[in-house]
Amino acid sequence: MCGIVGYIGNNDTKEILLKGLEKLEYRGYDSAGIAVMNEKGVHVFKEKGRIADLRAIVDEDVMTNIGIGHTRWATHGVPSKMNSHPHQSATGRFTLVHNGVIENYDLLKREYLTGVNFVSETDTEVIVQLIELFVQDGMEVIEAFRKTLTLLHGSYALALLDEQNSETIYVAKNKSPLLVGLGDGFNVVASDAMAMIQVTNQYVELMDKEMVLVTKNEVTIQNLNGETINRAPYTAELDASDIEKGTYPHYMLKEIDEQPLVMRKIIQMYQNEQGKLAIDSEIISAMNESDRIYIIAAGTSYHAGLVGKQFIEKMAKIPVEVHISSEFGYNMPLLSEKPLFIFISQSGETADSRAVLVNVKEMGYRTLTITNAPGSTLSREADYTLLLFAGPEIAVASTKAYTAQLAVLAILAEVVAESRNISVDFDLVQELGIVANAMEVLCDSKEIIEHISREFLAVTRNAFFIGRGIDYYVGLEGALKLKEISYIQAEGFAGGELKHGTIALIEEGTPVIALATQESVNLSIRGNVKEVVARGANPCIISMNGLNMDEDSFVIPEVHDLLTPLISVIPMQLIAYYAALHRDCDVDKPRNLAKSVTVE
Ligand code: G6P
Repeated sequence: MCGIVGYIGNNDTKEILLKGLEKLEYRGYDSAGIAVMNEKGVHVFKEKGRIADLRAIVDEDVMTNIGIGHTRWATHGVPSKMNSHPHQSATGRFTLVHNGVIENYDLLKREYLTGVNFVSETDTEVIVQLIELFVQDGMEVIEAFRKTLTLLHGSYALALLDEQNSETIYVAKNKSPLLVGLGDGFNVVASDAMAMIQVTNQYVELMDKEMVLVTKNEVTIQNLNGETINRAPYTAELDASDIEKGTYPHYMLKEIDEQPLVMRKIIQMYQNEQGKLAIDSEIISAMNESDRIYIIAAGTSYHAGLVGKQFIEKMAKIPVEVHISSEFGYNMPLLSEKPLFIFISQSGETADSRAVLVNVKEMGYRTLTITNAPGSTLSREADYTLLLFAGPEIAVASTKAYTAQLAVLAILAEVVAESRNISVDFDLVQELGIVANAMEVLCDSKEIIEHISREFLAVTRNAFFIGRGIDYYVGLEGALKLKEISYIQAEGFAGGELKHGTIALIEEGTPVIALATQESVNLSIRGNVKEVVARGANPCIISMNGLNMDEDSFVIPEVHDLLTPLISVIPMQLIAYYAALHRDCDVDKPRNLAKSVTVE
């Protein structure tokens, strides 16, 4: 949520900042800005809208070697030019970009800044005004910066320019992600290595409550007591081509198409030399020593957790509860005696999930993160990590990360089952291979699915997704995909539940997308379809080969019945994609959303 960049060196600062922001646009895209500094002072350019809008107003003639930038997802104050970052102190000496939320900003305003005229509605402006206030009171800039940080409650990733010092970018982090990138004769700052991978692959991680002085040739990390911290850089394993769209019109379509490849990569990465599925033995012991597993996640990852519960309970026979992270934080259930917490998060940065992680760690429980982002906060802070190997996911609507999460959860369940001598009646490597092939068939069926999407969703204002058992969870994900990117009001229901209220909303022509991939409930779900059809619904049945009937709109290839979510979700993703496209929606950057939700 919000992305920040900074650069100091001899190259074209404006272009590096703008390119970096373009790569971070997935984090928020309602307004953007950069501040660059030269001998004439600080020049701030900001604009409501996308980075392209910002690019259009940046003065090409300003030459500069130092600057910071920001792309915003509004929390405090509407998206506007005035509220967009960078923000400046009253005299204009200090300029700041910030990702995060300062919870006590109002208190700080009242306590320290009553004489200051604020120009924005943001919490951020308080930070930059405080720094100036302390400097005016006689403190050195670094002291003023440090003192301000000690007063802040909440989350921040900050980059600050001082007009009287063109040699340094002041940086700090607490809870929000931030990295410093190292170059030859230049250094950079970024919320995500993706933003600066074009200029360097060497990064230094920052921990919470650290501040950094970034100059052209040096990076000095300190804690808030002023003690210097030495930390070796790591190499970001990101291929620049992974983060480009290539010939695809949208990242989402590219990422949907990458799913068979990701599936094969996961099989390969989790196989040992003998070709058997393998997972770090400490993780397997932690699973076996727990009497109950608590899966904590948000959004699409939560939906993956619901399916993961089925895998773990059915294969490994360990009871599992699945919780929405934002709810769990405030409404913790009665825990079992030996819980193990599994955090599922594509980004590894979701603030609500992280809050739970911090909490349960304090309670002394063991934690495992399943994430696509090595080195992310949730990965660093949990006891163990399992990676998705899905490559960067850039479209806001998650696709390949979901199927990757399911595959890793299935592998985890299988390896645990084996360690407990529970026989699983299928060969998972082989079945995941069949899944990968089936995914390919589905990705090649775009024309049919586009047609279905047009037929059922072209004019509707709402849609329902129904399923039973594991299909219900895929329906939830199908509905989420559709509402996220096409803005059609969509809800997923357990097939039997629709008639307990929501059926009142069925009108002539209301689309009801029904999943029928489970033999045990095939007839029941078809019964539910009949109930809605009797009330005027327009049914779209997506079934699996072998269970299909004449009235079905689309039939997916047959895979093992526990693994059907890995492929039945693909028509859901494509239906949503085409519905958004037909409605001229911005598929990759839907309104009001952001990919990485780093505020609670
Ligand atoms: C945001 C994204 C969703 C994602 C959710 C959880 O809402 O738009 O696509 O599912 O966050 O993110 P995580 O990175 O924790 O999986």
